[in-house]
This record gives sequence, structure tokens and C-alpha cells, in this order.
Amino acid sequence: MAEVTLDLRGMPKAEAYAELKRHAEAVLEGLSDEIAAMATMSCLLHHAFGHLWTGFYRVVQPGKLLLVGPYQGTLGCLEIAFGRGVCGTAAATRETMVVPDVHAFPGHITCDGRSQSEIVVPVFNPRRELIAVLDIDSEHKATFDEEDRRALEELMGWFSRQR
Ligand code: SME
Repeated sequence: MAEVTLDLRGMPKAEAYAELKRHAEAVLEGLSDEIAAMATMSCLLHHAFGHLWTGFYRVVQPGKLLLVGPYQGTLGCLEIAFGRGVCGTAAATRETMVVPDVHAFPGHITCDGRSQSEIVVPVFNPRRELIAVLDIDSEHKATFDEEDRRALEELMGWFSRQR
């Protein structure tokens, strides 16, 4: 049943992400609202993998400022300037950032002291404009790898396929 939130921990990553993508697309069928999609994806990703923080920072001033968007987890910082921290760096470079140890990342912004590693994926609209970044924080070191990068970039492709 598409409406049930799945816990995919313990499943091989490839299968878990494939299941999550199917699930997200089924839930979002017929919908093109970006914020509803961000809320839905935050919820599905957060409950599927149980990471510390899962959510979006939206571009509110292109090239300048990100503002917290839909998320799940502990209280997130509200504003992040482009170029600051992991999220701001991903926004400024338009590249996914995989950070195995946040303490080794210069300028990392600490919202929750338990965070040890993270992945931040840029989100584009169909015109290739950056509209947000997806940020997932883990309380364990080196949680994310190339497989997460590929799967999450593919999942974020939903936003660039909308009219
Ligand atoms: N870790 C992020 C900040 C956002 S929160 O952790 C929710 C960063 O350095 O960009």
C-alpha cells in the first residue's frame, strides 16, 4: 500500500533506494507541487533510513541564501548563505557533497552536535535552476558513499521532470 511509510534499514542500499523511488513516485503521482514533494520525500527518506536529519533548504535568494524547508529531525538552522557549510557549498558549486567526517569539513555548520557525516544533493527545476538542496545528516561517520550519491541524485530528478 503506497501510503505506508516503510522502514528499509537492513535491506541492501540498491534495493532500498529502488523501493523508495517507486514509493515516492507512487505517492506523488499526479502532483507537481515542489513543497509537497519535499515534505513527502523528507518523510519517506527519514523513516526509511533513520538518519538524524533529513530535509531541504530552499533557494530564497538565488546565488545568495538558503532557507530551511520541509524536514524531519531535530531543529535545523534557519538560514544558510551560499558558500557556507556543506549545504552552502553544494548550493554554490551545484555539486553533490559527500562528507564522511563533518568535523574535518572547514566551515561546517553544527545544528545538532550528534551529526558526524552528511550528504547534500542539489535540486534543480526543469530549467536547470537550483531550487533547493537535500541535506541528510547521520550520527555515524562515513555513512554515505557513491551509491547514495547516485540514488539520491536520481530521486531528486523528480523535480527536474516537472512542468
Ligand atoms: N550540516 C549542514 C547544516 C544544516 S543542518 O545540519 C540541518 C551544513 O553544514 O551545511
